Amino acid sequence: MKRSFPIAAALISLFLMLLVVAIVVRNPTRDESSSSAVSASRPPEIHGLIRASGNPVAGARVRAKGSDISTISDALGRFHLPLDLQSPHRVTAWKEGFLIGGCDADADNLRVDLQPLPGEDSAAYEWVDPRPNPDASMNCANCHAEIYREWSAGGHAHSADGRYFRDLYGDDKSTTHASWNLLSEYPDGAGVCASCHAPTANFNETLDLREVQGIAAQGVHCDYCHKVTDAALGNLSLTHGRHGMQLLRPGHGQFFVGPLDDVDRGEDAYSLLYRQSKYCASCHEGTVFGVHVYSTYSEWLASPAAKKDLQCQSCHMKPTGTMTNIAPGEGGIDRRPETLGNHVFFAGGKEAMLRQCLDLKIEVDRALGNVDVLTRLKATGVGHRVPTGFIDRHLLLVVEAQDTHSRPVRNMTGPKLGPAAGKELEDKAGWLYARLVHLRNIPRPVPFWMADHVVDDTRLAPDESDVLHWVFPKDVETIKVALIYRPFWQETAQSKGWGNLDIVLREETVRVPNRR
Ligand code: HEC
Ligand code: HEC
Ligand code: HEC
Ligand code: HEC
Ligand code: HEC
Repeated sequence: MKRSFPIAAALISLFLMLLVVAIVVRNPTRDESSSSAVSASRPPEIHGLIRASGNPVAGARVRAKGSDISTISDALGRFHLPLDLQSPHRVTAWKEGFLIGGCDADADNLRVDLQPLPGEDSAAYEWVDPRPNPDASMNCANCHAEIYREWSAGGHAHSADGRYFRDLYGDDKSTTHASWNLLSEYPDGAGVCASCHAPTANFNETLDLREVQGIAAQGVHCDYCHKVTDAALGNLSLTHGRHGMQLLRPGHGQFFVGPLDDVDRGEDAYSLLYRQSKYCASCHEGTVFGVHVYSTYSEWLASPAAKKDLQCQSCHMKPTGTMTNIAPGEGGIDRRPETLGNHVFFAGGKEAMLRQCLDLKIEVDRALGNVDVLTRLKATGVGHRVPTGFIDRHLLLVVEAQDTHSRPVRNMTGPKLGPAAGKELEDKAGWLYARLVHLRNIPRPVPFWMADHVVDDTRLAPDESDVLHWVFPKDVETIKVALIYRPFWQETAQSKGWGNLDIVLREETVRVPNRR
């Protein structure tokens, strides 16, 4: 017994040693697998560290510039990207609160040092002119020629000096009428329009928009829009335009915010806001003088489009698919065209967008000896009611019947157009899709600054069919249906000398089927 103990102990020790060896061998380490066979097939990878003021930055978006290869830095600020050191790349990084940073991916252990955003908004900042000018190096169009072309063709470029706006505001040279003229009808309201129509006008002075000049007269321009860091602040409907938007204007140098997170020139920041409807809200929603004049954003909130996550930009800034470089020859890089939004805001034109979104079905038949007309009008592929935007925009559906001698025949039942439709159309069978701002008991439009409280909203709701029905007498032979878009009330347009602004979206003549 005395001798057997050390032998047993030795055997047990030996057994344990073998067990340990067995476990180690059964669990091949990373080293073993990477030794020979795998090194050839291991994907290329670079790694590095994101820092700010010498400290690691976790949660930064790290990207191979101009590509969709990206990752997030870990808790210790480290990142790995599947990039090959042989092919030249730049690595960029961005995190909330910092400018976009970057470095060349030319070493194995990269460092990107992020710089903080300009401290606070500087009111002393001088706005940069969007227009091309070889003598002014910062003018946006000098480098962003294509985007400038898009923007300058649209409404934002003329929001402060557009003819219709100026005429209604008070620039009324064409007629002696003092009606539909803000300055003569409601002079106290003169300063209200600038917060959305001329957001960089000097708000310290008593504002008369007719006197706004220089860059402020460029309306909703590039530099203003790309200094926005937050939006839809305050009570949306009452905090208009720039009062609901937070800006960050640098005290020195330059600073732009945009939708690209890899512009690492040291003066740019990324913000998700630029792809969200919220960005447009403070200007496209507004109760002015107690009237809900602009309601596009709240219409969008209630729309099927919002539920499908279609933002304003998804439709109005949808990439054209043709622009591949936003600053060609001026430091811009080739980018995938589907990542670059367009600044036209109505791709293909407003008329094309209106036509595309409206579907009209007409049914004409005989019933109970008379002629029945049924219309179904539906707005699809739109993110709000139709029409939307300025309160005077409206659609007219006009139904005209003729007998066998081509004489007009009046309808027996069904809705008729009122005086708002203008002299030629008043009293005809039809329907007005509009927000009619009028005084009590008088269904005639008034300017929104003259309204007491009545707004009849009869516009189309997105994705909902609007069905209307008329009955005409039996001797009717043809039915003509027209769908007309009018940006302003006809009487206003005539008194201002604007001419005929009607857009006829659809016109169709249907023969009434023969008696069965
Ligand atoms: C009404 C505000 C507004 C105005 C005015 C405006 N932008 Fe933009 N810009 C945006 C928004 C929003 C985006 C993001 C679009 C997207 O990606 O869906 C954007 C995107 C950009 C981009 C990134 C590339 C792209 O096309 O998506 C650049 C560059 C740019 N704008 C420059 C300009 C220049 C230059 C002008 C003037 C000529 C201008 N912007 C006018 C709001 C504006
Ligand atoms: C600073 C205020 C402001 C912001 C921000 C703004 N808009 Fe506008 N927008 C206006 C004004 C003012 C007009 C009217 C221009 C005019 O007088 O015709 C307008 C006009 C438009 C039009 C009609 C364009 C045309 O060419 O007739 C569309 C569409 C539009 N905006 C969409 C948008 C979208 C989408 C956004 C957000 C990405 C946006 N806007 C952001 C103020 C703004
Ligand atoms: C000297 C040329 C030049 C001028 C002038 C210029 N830019 Fe740019 N801008 C660039 C370049 C280069 C880029 C980056 C292009 C790239 O990475 O593809 C850029 C990028 C941008 C971006 C994208 C930022 C982001 O992170 O999404 C915005 C927004 C922008 N510029 C707005 C403006 C505005 C507004 C003006 C006028 C006030 C202006 N730029 C003037 C050259 C210029
Ligand atoms: C699903 C696509 C879609 C979305 C999302 C969308 N729109 Fe529109 N928008 C349209 C179409 C189509 C029209 C033309 C019909 C009309 O005038 O109502 C239009 C018209 C407009 C007009 C009318 C301009 C005029 O001159 O009368 C404005 C302003 C506008 N949109 C702003 C916005 C804003 C702001 C948002 C986000 C809150 C938005 N849209 C979301 C498709 C869209
Ligand atoms: C809350 C922001 C906001 C305020 C405040 C505002 N507007 Fe507008 N305005 C807009 C937007 C956005 C549009 C573009 C809607 C569209 O295109 O249908 C517009 C369009 C217009 C148009 C149509 C221009 C055209 O060419 O079709 C007129 C006219 C107009 N506004 C007059 C005024 C007047 C006058 C005031 C001041 C009493 C005013 N607006 C105040 C945002 C505003």
